[in-house]
Amino acid sequence: MIANNYVVEINNLTKVYRKMFSTREIKAVDDLSFSIRRGEVCGFLGPNGAGKTTTIMLLMGFLKPTSGTIRLLGQKPAHVGVKERIGFLPEESYFYKFFNADEILDYYGSLFKMDPKVRKRRIDELIEMVGLQKARKRRIREYSKGMQRRIGIAQALINDPEFIILDEPTSGLDPIGTQEVKDLIINLRQAGKTILMSSHLLADVQGVCDRILLLHQGKLIVEGPTRQILSKKGHTRIEVQDDSGGTAKRIRKFAEQNGMKVTSVGASNITLEEFFMESIKKAGEK
Ligand SMILES: Nc1ncnc2c1ncn2[C@@H]1O[C@H](COP(=O)(O)OP(=O)(O)O)[C@@H](O)[C@H]1O
Ligand SMILES: [Mg+2]
Repeated sequence: MIANNYVVEINNLTKVYRKMFSTREIKAVDDLSFSIRRGEVCGFLGPNGAGKTTTIMLLMGFLKPTSGTIRLLGQKPAHVGVKERIGFLPEESYFYKFFNADEILDYYGSLFKMDPKVRKRRIDELIEMVGLQKARKRRIREYSKGMQRRIGIAQALINDPEFIILDEPTSGLDPIGTQEVKDLIINLRQAGKTILMSSHLLADVQGVCDRILLLHQGKLIVEGPTRQILSKKGHTRIEVQDDSGGTAKRIRKFAEQNGMKVTSVGASNITLEEFFMESIKKAGEK
């Protein structure tokens, strides 16, 4: 079945927020369509207020769309069987702060009706995976922001989900914490998981995501493989294992003799930041 290859299928999704006792409307998601294939790691990018969290809430079935359709693992988001196969890290986790890491994970494991023995083993695995072995008996309220984010990710993985939605997993983390979370996501990808991670920080998705979805004012303005998006059109870069100036000269000579113009020697990729700013600017001019 073709539909089985898709973990997410979103078609013409629109969400309008209406304030009570007010005529003001906010179109947070505007005719959005995209899909995510099994095994893909997708970066959901966009500035604050672009509609990332709203889309995620719709995907999780916590909000109802104003119009449009969502298919999650071939089902409607509200489907109970689907929930068991999904892991979710909300933008902000509200844990009971007097619990320690073990207790939090045990609590969430019990919600999934996991057998106590399986639960215990799974908790040990997860605590190790997110590097909280030393802090597992400390209360969550004593945790740093990075540690709280990591316990949140562990919680999202308790049921060994096939699809993982992470809303700003690196928010508030320092570069080291960010790298740790990125490494964790890379491991999950290697384990064959499908992942959607949102971020307003571009460097946080580079090197992790296979595909980028860029959202601006509720609309998808760019979508494509990360590598393709960041490649500089009409240029080719050659990397050779030799750092003597002679090699560059020889290659340059060869290129020029064959009618090619050498435009630079070195990296020819643009940064995700440059790409982001350019796309937002273009979208704003329409
Ligand atoms: N509960 C809500 N009620 C009204 N407006 C909201 C609500 N949640 C979000 N919004 C608005 O919807 C837009 C998209 O917000 P959000 O989905 O949180 O974006 P992002 O996660 O990309 O920062 C923003 O303009 C925001 O102010
Ligand atoms: Mg958000």
